[in-house]
Amino acid sequence: MSEKLITVDDFEQYAKTFLKKSVFDYYWSGADDQQTLLDNVAAFSRWRLYPRVLRDVSVTDLSTTILGQRVSMPICVGATAMQRMAHPDGETATVKACRSLGVGMMLSSWATSSIEEVAEAAPDSLRWMQLYIYKDRNLTRTLVQRAERSGYKGIFLTVDTPYLGRRLEDVRNKFQLPPHLRMKNFDSEDLAFSSKKAYGDNSGLAVYVAQAIDASIKWDDIEWLKGITSLPIVVKGILRAEDAMEAVKRGVSGILVSNHGARQLDGVPATIDVLSEIVEAVDGKVEVYLDGGIRKGTDVLKALALGARAVFVGRPALWGLAYKGEEGVKEVLNILMEEFQLAMSLAGCCNVNEIKRSLVREDRFSSKM
Ligand SMILES: Cc1cc2nc3c(=O)[nH]c(=O)nc-3n(C[C@H](O)[C@H](O)[C@H](O)COP(=O)(O)O)c2cc1C
Repeated sequence: MSEKLITVDDFEQYAKTFLKKSVFDYYWSGADDQQTLLDNVAAFSRWRLYPRVLRDVSVTDLSTTILGQRVSMPICVGATAMQRMAHPDGETATVKACRSLGVGMMLSSWATSSIEEVAEAAPDSLRWMQLYIYKDRNLTRTLVQRAERSGYKGIFLTVDTPYLGRRLEDVRNKFQLPPHLRMKNFDSEDLAFSSKKAYGDNSGLAVYVAQAIDASIKWDDIEWLKGITSLPIVVKGILRAEDAMEAVKRGVSGILVSNHGARQLDGVPATIDVLSEIVEAVDGKVEVYLDGGIRKGTDVLKALALGARAVFVGRPALWGLAYKGEEGVKEVLNILMEEFQLAMSLAGCCNVNEIKRSLVREDRFSSKM
């Protein structure tokens, strides 16, 4: 592809032609019929912006804080597993890109680079650890302690994955990691999801999750997690107001409104459509973030207007990685930054505090998909 890539979608198109089909399928797919996958993106266009004018936007500041840590803009990189399938440097390239842009990176438990390797690749970067609770609680405790020791600033506990959603292409492809890769946070072959193990006639990852991840976790496990770490805990995967309020009651520091990039329960709403009811329920008691379908600067502006403190991108970073490793992730983040800055200015806002709820209204004229 010789044309310059100027939007996140351009990077996705590049990745589609460049990556091996089974890898692209794993990265791109949602669950089942992809209803939510399409809606995560489409829903943003059902919200309309109502800009203010004549407000001197000659100087803008995009920065904010997340759990008390300063970031250059409210767009960070969310946890996506197995990044070395996209580029040989995988997660270590992503963390370097995030550091150079001044944003944070959430590392997946299922990374193909270890917690320590990622910390060493960019020691002064802002990092959080995404956590799955394993049936083996000692192993889970070790993951948390390693993250804490390596300077990660929070634990994002994923709560929407007692089992893996049914991703049809992964089933058809019998998805497995390529032989030269493994999940680097685990010593044993059993837990490293390596190709040395057979997973039968299914998505290998779905079999792995059923074997290893604790499907019995419940609210009391937040107490358990709080008991083993002093890091702030954010629950990742909240879609309803009452669950958000329960999480607040249990003492979490943040809520990530997420449907796991539409990869778990198909048919759930787009995250942008449930954001404001969750923000209202939480009533400022903890920070609320959003991920799912962010592809444009205007998406970020809409999410902030509806009450998100920051957003996370999953797939866009993978498309950047596939394009050119660290440089590619930087390019994608730069595009989002420039688009967000322009959108904010055109809406009459000089900084994130000026992005108010009245900036967006649900579009009454377009029909729902
Ligand atoms: C390829 C891929 C792998 C993912 N791996 C994880 C993971 O290991 N842990 C997790 O909590 N979420 C994981 N997610 C979900 C993301 O953290 C995030 O919720 C989602 O990608 C956001 O949607 P977006 O891709 O539309 O930006 C993954 C998503 C993708 C696309």
